[in-house]
Amino acid sequence: MAGLIPQDFIDDLVARADIVEVVGRRVPLKKAGREFKACCPFHDEKSASFTVSPAKGFYHCFGCGAHGTAVSFLMDFDHMNFIEAIESLANSMGVEVPRNESDKPAQRYDELFALLGKVEKHWQHCLREHAPAVDYLKQRGIDGVTAQRFGIGFAPDGWSNLLDKFGGSDTTIDRLLATGLVIRKDNGRHYDRFRNRIVFPIRDTRGRCIGFGGRTTGDEEPKYLNSPETVLFHKGSELYGLWEARQALRQIERLVVVEGYMDVVALARNGIDFAVATLGTATTADHLNRLFRLSDNVAFCFDGDRAGRQAAWRALETALPHIREGRQVRFVFLPDGQDPDSYVNTHGADAFIAALDSGLLLADFLTGELTRQVDLASVDGKARFAELAKPLVAKIPHGVYRDILLESLAKTVGLATEKLERNLASDPAGRQRLNAIHPAIALARRRDARGKPSVVRKAITLLLNYPAAALQIDPEQLAGVNRPGIDLLAGLIETVREEPHMTTAGLLERWRHLESGKHLGKLAAAELPDDEEFDAAAELGECLVQIAQAARREHVEVLIAKQRVSSLSEDEKAELRQLGRV
Ligand code: UTP
Ligand code: MN
Repeated sequence: MAGLIPQDFIDDLVARADIVEVVGRRVPLKKAGREFKACCPFHDEKSASFTVSPAKGFYHCFGCGAHGTAVSFLMDFDHMNFIEAIESLANSMGVEVPRNESDKPAQRYDELFALLGKVEKHWQHCLREHAPAVDYLKQRGIDGVTAQRFGIGFAPDGWSNLLDKFGGSDTTIDRLLATGLVIRKDNGRHYDRFRNRIVFPIRDTRGRCIGFGGRTTGDEEPKYLNSPETVLFHKGSELYGLWEARQALRQIERLVVVEGYMDVVALARNGIDFAVATLGTATTADHLNRLFRLSDNVAFCFDGDRAGRQAAWRALETALPHIREGRQVRFVFLPDGQDPDSYVNTHGADAFIAALDSGLLLADFLTGELTRQVDLASVDGKARFAELAKPLVAKIPHGVYRDILLESLAKTVGLATEKLERNLASDPAGRQRLNAIHPAIALARRRDARGKPSVVRKAITLLLNYPAAALQIDPEQLAGVNRPGIDLLAGLIETVREEPHMTTAGLLERWRHLESGKHLGKLAAAELPDDEEFDAAAELGECLVQIAQAARREHVEVLIAKQRVSSLSEDEKAELRQLGRV
């Protein structure tokens, strides 16, 4: 529904809405410093714990926890739905909500799609003109038909190919910026983002191009470059190849999630049309919702290496809340050093399908990973097993699947199901938390157990409360860091850097319909130092430094832990030597 109203219109509306006016028309407000106070309209109270912050465009009740933007207030107080709230807000501000193509903002939105479509066609044309790029694809086993099916193209070398062709005016340059195709330098000049790269169009559910992935044909770094987050493109919820799969298959019986563009394309080339890839991010709840809407049979295929197992475990943790009877989730590990692309090209489609079919069922993967961590022959080991299983089982919705899993876990530890359930229910307070499944995860949990909010959370809180701080930090520090919440943090930073006038309320509205935005409201309500001297940008910068450091430290600890129980590959040894020195 929200898609009917252009995002830039909503951004604008929320940025200009006067929350004090909106709330004040319905609830008597009293000025208190930079904020306004009232008795909370959402619960019964005698003293005023309801606060409205005009700077943030946000209200919050310290009593009952109600919070939100002007839009949320209309939804909750006047019982409107989202569209009605937007319309009411627009109405009170004397503007009309753009609905049809003749309205300007809607047109702008459509124009971004149109631009991406034109660029896509242009790059496909460039590919045909550029023999070395065609040769590269051929050498990787991609034929013309497959390349066409995925709309693969080539962005030639040069800093201003797109600018010269599509950026004739300020308006068209703005569009190139809004789609992430060009980058603005500090001195105000612009340059093309994708240069000398094979480009893979990423499509939305309607097949429209919303961004690109680009691969070098040589050794340049980074190997892959993606479009940034834009109004059209949200990495954490898009899946590469999904539209193409739906085009190729009348009925989607199964889906397999792989890691890379080339994996999806190579599988399709070999007749396996049901592969999709996340876009350089971990699997998110948004991804899973999309996948399960199309099929009950989802496999995750990872490399057999350390990173692959770690990614699989994270995918398992994200998948647990989505598990129910009738849904089948498998984890497939390819031999070390292989990815779906190399595997299908060496062994063929039948072998790949066989590998999928013999993948570990979620329950078996879970049990197996837990078992590896404990000595089930000892009483202590059994207790520890139950302890490790506890937070995981807690994520699975109550139902037949959960019951069956519990039974199977009980069998594994040799306990009666009821006994295990009791064990799972009891809080092992005071008992020392033993190593969890993966050292890295154990570490993260131990930090959480100490009750300190994570640095990522702190960074997100700062950013939400002081959006402009994002303009003063170096977002590159987060490149390659992979921990819970990082995608969200990076997305917020990117959004503010692209829309420097974003307010707290604006950010909340951008994330309103996304799973990852579920808890943002609570963080926006956090109490921060009410002090003129408080330097949010410096604090945020410090958080980013800490995050990058912690990621590096954790990686070293994982390698060292692994070294204790098994041997490291040559690559890992080299990595450890290198990291150990810094
Ligand atoms: P891989 O490096 O495993 O990709 O990254 P791949 O498909 O096996 O690469 P080649 O082409 O066969 O050598 C997997 C995915 O991770 C993201 C991309 O989405 C890529 O498809 N990625 C990887 C990046 O975003 N940036 C990078 O620098 C590398
Ligand atoms: Mn590969």
